[in-house]
Amino acid sequence: MTWKPDSWKSKRISQIPSYPDMEHLERVQKKIASYPPLVFIGEVDQLKKKLIRVSQGDAFLLHGGDCAESFSDLNTQTVQNNFRILLQMSVVLTFALKKYVVKLGRTAGQFAKPRSSQTETKGNVTLPSYRGDIINGYEFSEKIRQPNPKRMERAYFHSAATLNTLRALARGGFANLGQVQRWNLDFAEQNSRTKRYKHITERVQESLSFMKAMGIDDTKHSQLRGIEFYTSHEALLLPYEEALTKLDTHSESPHWYDCSAHYLWIGDRTRQLDSAHVEFARGICNPIGIKCSSSLTPDDLIKLIDVLNPKNEHGRLTLITRFGHQKIAEYLPPLIQKVSAEGRHVVWCCDPMHGNTHTASNGYKTRHFQDILDEAQQFLAIHKNEGTYAGGVHFEMTGSNVVECIGSDQAIEEEHLSRGFYQTLCDPRLNADQALELAFKLI
Ligand code: PEP
Ligand code: CO
Repeated sequence: MTWKPDSWKSKRISQIPSYPDMEHLERVQKKIASYPPLVFIGEVDQLKKKLIRVSQGDAFLLHGGDCAESFSDLNTQTVQNNFRILLQMSVVLTFALKKYVVKLGRTAGQFAKPRSSQTETKGNVTLPSYRGDIINGYEFSEKIRQPNPKRMERAYFHSAATLNTLRALARGGFANLGQVQRWNLDFAEQNSRTKRYKHITERVQESLSFMKAMGIDDTKHSQLRGIEFYTSHEALLLPYEEALTKLDTHSESPHWYDCSAHYLWIGDRTRQLDSAHVEFARGICNPIGIKCSSSLTPDDLIKLIDVLNPKNEHGRLTLITRFGHQKIAEYLPPLIQKVSAEGRHVVWCCDPMHGNTHTASNGYKTRHFQDILDEAQQFLAIHKNEGTYAGGVHFEMTGSNVVECIGSDQAIEEEHLSRGFYQTLCDPRLNADQALELAFKLI
């Protein structure tokens, strides 16, 4: 294999910035390449094994988190809230599906954003668009909007600090199943959902007591003491991904792993067959996601699958479909039929967020809860009808009480978006209550 971490440079590239000082970029890349990996090869292989189970219909993938993480939002509370909501949703899903739920966060590295427009104009000033904290800053000033390679190093340390907190939460007692009731403590209000959730946690406690009586407890079974939690982000900023790509020195043939996250995905705007992003992803052993919208034809999808998964391995590829609730019924079945007819092994995952974004009458980018639920429910029904396995869901969400998506039991309306709780730097996220409501309504 002639592939190298920088092979992507010979391909057509879109959606990455042109840095004003290339030598500065190279210096930062070298520094990052000398740092320890953020995730370890053994962990990546462990996730792959779990995704094999998903691909075979034996487990379910829950993938979610921020649209864009921000440098200014790094604190224990934010990481813990985001971790907890994913955990709560996974309890609800495990209980209903009676299947292992793979927990995959959009976190600890989700800093680079593809943009529809290169520039943003306010009044008579036009500046480069905000592309995520790893590239430039959100503030609308010429200096801050300039892409700066130094930000890559900051992103590395932010990801390390987030990961450190996540590892402690996953293994240091918080995620112990025996503590399941504690995860619920600070829900602001009691509603029918918090009652339903409490009911589930009581049944979990009962099952644990029964198991303990039978001699199965957390001293002997690490699955009861904590959880496996994995990280992911869009592999967009290739100079950064390249710098963290390391060779597995334990294997005889060269195996490269992108150690910036366990799982990487290719966005809908960068997944062309001859693109730099596909070239990069082709050579790394991490599990890969591909965002699939209505612009992807069944034939092109097969070509893409064959470039990214030539050995047709289970668990290597997830197709993250994101059509929008009005289009999914037309576009998903032909993709499923083609992939099944050609015998390709994939995990099917539904992103009901990115095809359902619109601008509210007051100018805020938002999504309607009902449209999100509708697309996710259609996804499940279509797979049932096609005889394929609906393997997972992918949400943009946060554990904080933001007000960014409208609808849901909270009856959020457009006018509520302007009341100070709209905090996203990019796309609107489900808040903690909406995310849990979605988990309950999905099953
Ligand atoms: C995203 O997941 O934040 C995103 C930009 O998605 P997509 O590539 O599907 O538009
Ligand atoms: Co998004």
